[in-house]
Amino acid sequence: MSGAAVELKGVSKRFDSGLQALGQVDFDLRAGEFVSIVGPSGCGKSTLLRIVAGLIATSTGECRRPADIETAFVFQEAALLPWRTVERNAQLLMELEGYKPEDYQPRAAEALKLVGLAGFEKSYPHQLSGGMRMRLSLARALALRPGLLLLDEPLAAVDELTRDILQEELSAMWQQAGFTGVLVTHNVHEAVYLSDRVIVMSPRPGRILDVIDVPFAFPRAPELRATPEFARLTGDVTAALRRKQPA
Ligand SMILES: Nc1ncnc2c1ncn2[C@@H]1O[C@H](COP(=O)(O)OP(=O)(O)O)[C@@H](O)[C@H]1O
Ligand SMILES: [Mg+2]
Repeated sequence: MSGAAVELKGVSKRFDSGLQALGQVDFDLRAGEFVSIVGPSGCGKSTLLRIVAGLIATSTGECRRPADIETAFVFQEAALLPWRTVERNAQLLMELEGYKPEDYQPRAAEALKLVGLAGFEKSYPHQLSGGMRMRLSLARALALRPGLLLLDEPLAAVDELTRDILQEELSAMWQQAGFTGVLVTHNVHEAVYLSDRVIVMSPRPGRILDVIDVPFAFPRAPELRATPEFARLTGDVTAALRRKQPA
């Protein structure tokens, strides 16, 4: 499977309440790349991600994506069904999309293996740690074999050590599966570690202040985070966040 390219042209969003959430956004996502979006709280990051997902309409402009790709969404809250076992949660989205059990069962099993949850198929969500619940949420999305995976602060609620490990695992999954990834995060280090490019947004109404290329080759060693080159990149992103106007 290969990732999908997405084109945003003159996209803005004003909600019915009159609130202008997004200014004008122009951006092209390249097939198979991993991009992060950083910006202050309330600047329209989630709104932008929902537009890319096709979940909400734009007020101006358009978002073009291939019609035939699966899009999967992962939220900060793992949003699991507590009465379903791990494997039944992993099967959920495929079941809702009308796949047959003989198709969705092996796919869910494969996705659970990929996120390191093999052996926990019959457990229930309340028996899992926060990190494991997020792995399950990822497995549920990956089982769809998405061409486009959208992640809205999925690691914001896990502790720092687990967060580093999940970042490394997420990066490995992306390198293996080849989807186009878009991650919203508050964490500048996370954005730089995972991404080909980091989009820096202004306060609301959100516009793109800068797009920063991250030149490190994949796979990236965990130790990359401790290098001066890495610190320079995170410094560039932080400086861009403080700007008032596009570079
Ligand atoms: N459905 C909605 N109707 C009206 N306002 C909304 C709606 N969804 C979000 N907003 C507002 O739009 C702004 C941007 O929200 P959001 O995209 O969630 O920001 P972020 O994810 O960057 O924190 C916020 O002020 C939020 O309250
Ligand atoms: Mg948000």
